[in-house]
Amino acid sequence: MCGIVGFTGRHQAAPILLDGLSKLEYRGYDSAGLAVRDGENETEVIKAKGRLKVLMEKTNGGESVPGTCGIGHTRWATHGEPSEMNAHPHVSDDGNVVAVHNGIIENYQELKDKLLRKGYSFYSATDTEVAVKLVDYYYKKYGESPIEAVNHAMVRIRGSYALAMMFRDYPGEIYVARKDSPMILGVQDGESYIASDVPAILKYTRNVYYIGNMEMARVRMGEITFYNLDGDEIQKELKTVEWDAEAAEKAGFEHFMMKEIHEQPRAVSDTLNSVIKDGKIDLSEVGMDEEMIRSISRIYIVACGSAYHVGMAAQYVLEDLARIPVRVELASEFRYRNPILDKDGLAVIISQSGETADSLAALRECKTNGIRTLAIVNVIGSSIAREADNVFYTLAGPEISVATTKAYSTQLIASYVLALQFAKVRGQITEEQCDEYVKELQTIPDKISRIIDDKERLQWFASKQANAKDIFFIGRGIDYAISLEGSLKMKEISYIHSEAYAAGELKHGTISLIEDGTLVIGVLTQPKLYEKTVSNMVECKSRGAYLMGLTTFGNYNIEDTADFTVYIPKTDPHFATSLAVIPLQLLGYYVSVNKGLDVDKPRNLAKSVTVE
Ligand code: AGP
Ligand code: GLU
Repeated sequence: MCGIVGFTGRHQAAPILLDGLSKLEYRGYDSAGLAVRDGENETEVIKAKGRLKVLMEKTNGGESVPGTCGIGHTRWATHGEPSEMNAHPHVSDDGNVVAVHNGIIENYQELKDKLLRKGYSFYSATDTEVAVKLVDYYYKKYGESPIEAVNHAMVRIRGSYALAMMFRDYPGEIYVARKDSPMILGVQDGESYIASDVPAILKYTRNVYYIGNMEMARVRMGEITFYNLDGDEIQKELKTVEWDAEAAEKAGFEHFMMKEIHEQPRAVSDTLNSVIKDGKIDLSEVGMDEEMIRSISRIYIVACGSAYHVGMAAQYVLEDLARIPVRVELASEFRYRNPILDKDGLAVIISQSGETADSLAALRECKTNGIRTLAIVNVIGSSIAREADNVFYTLAGPEISVATTKAYSTQLIASYVLALQFAKVRGQITEEQCDEYVKELQTIPDKISRIIDDKERLQWFASKQANAKDIFFIGRGIDYAISLEGSLKMKEISYIHSEAYAAGELKHGTISLIEDGTLVIGVLTQPKLYEKTVSNMVECKSRGAYLMGLTTFGNYNIEDTADFTVYIPKTDPHFATSLAVIPLQLLGYYVSVNKGLDVDKPRNLAKSVTVE
């Protein structure tokens, strides 16, 4: 998803803007641009299609652009092809308003028709240009301040936006408005910063304001004033960001993804320890008390992508341990399904970024229906975290690689802890059983480390798969949930077509796709389902498949069936996902590296999908 940065202060703006945009590259983009104003002079706008380095070359790293007030943008196109013309910033006809935008203006066509009737012309195919000219229209129509003009525009616009705007009549100032798309504002030593996410400004300040939905702000040097839609000034608390800057760097690894794979033991341990006190689960920080837990009639887990795959694994664990009915939903489906929700239900929204548009919308759908919402989120202060009734923060730290690993693993831990606490409070397991489960959970970080230490075998196997056309992951129960994540990891970073299948489903159509040499990866962590899945693997082998088995140490008989086997340490079957996913993360990583692809920034993808 796109990145927005802004700066107004004493220093030259362009280098700061470019540095900030470089820290947001992981969000995914196709073009970039910046606009800088030098005192009262005309604002200079420079844009470039492609990687940020093209813009850096055009501006000599920003050195050739004078001025201490500016905005920058990396675009992830939704309306209008990736091109220099469609790149942001966008400018009103006479240059009165210059702006950048993250999000989608859903009613851009009707607004564009209105502005065309008012004499405006358009040079780009973007929805953003319409928003910029709408602000300009209201600024001139009412002759009021930029805040009033933006306010009028916000009332008319439908969609999502994080907007940063500069007005010719207000040199040195930047105006922002937010609805659904992420934005934070920072201040430090008399200078002010704007960013889509913390990494962009962490080098300059830890003092941030979280602008709320449907709020605006005037950003001056070291002074930020917030307004609501009534035009009233509102007070905001200045927060301190706890992240450490080097955590958002590669720390000697070739890719962020490998660094983050290695950080999983620590991330899992930190997340677990945040809710375990003296061997007992303590959800006081999450705010789920025993009465609330007893009242839950059913659970709706709603998420996207890998977070959805966590939900798929959690469903089996929650239902088996806590005996609560669980339904797992894709957020993009849930929000348009007019869902039937039980008033005593609990909606669990899982999201690393806390900004995924579909998941945020699903959260709001649940709140509109009056059911309690619990968010499992990694980014403090994110939209989903701020709007949910209860929040379980995962402590994965900043996750930069588009392909999630450590955040996924910490979300799993959170779901196990919830399942254990719900099961104990509702009398489905005893205190002693719960203590034993917790003890096993505390061995997971070390077991993950042992798997990572043995990564060279996977590196070798991955080198044989670089030219694979299709890769199938199959499993039953929790092993099916593991297959879903393994398949996504493979396809999103290696671009190889891959499918995850419930192993019992193969004979209902998919097995027709198996050809000589097709790689089929059988996930075998569930003792009760082991033989069944092995039979399905044999069915594939008899049609030419090349088999990889993924199972726990001790199941050595798999070598009679599989051509290549990966073993993971034993753990309670409920928690097997946390171990089995590690080799699949590594496999996807090494195949991508073998193919010479951009592991951390796969084509077409964004780290946080803040548009529908
Ligand atoms: C997973 O590797 C992808 N990056 C993607 O599927 C991601 O899990 C999904 O977009 C959800 O993001 P979120 O957790 O930030 O909501
Ligand atoms: N919808 C706008 C465009 O297509 C902004 C997309 C983004 O968030 O980068 O230019």
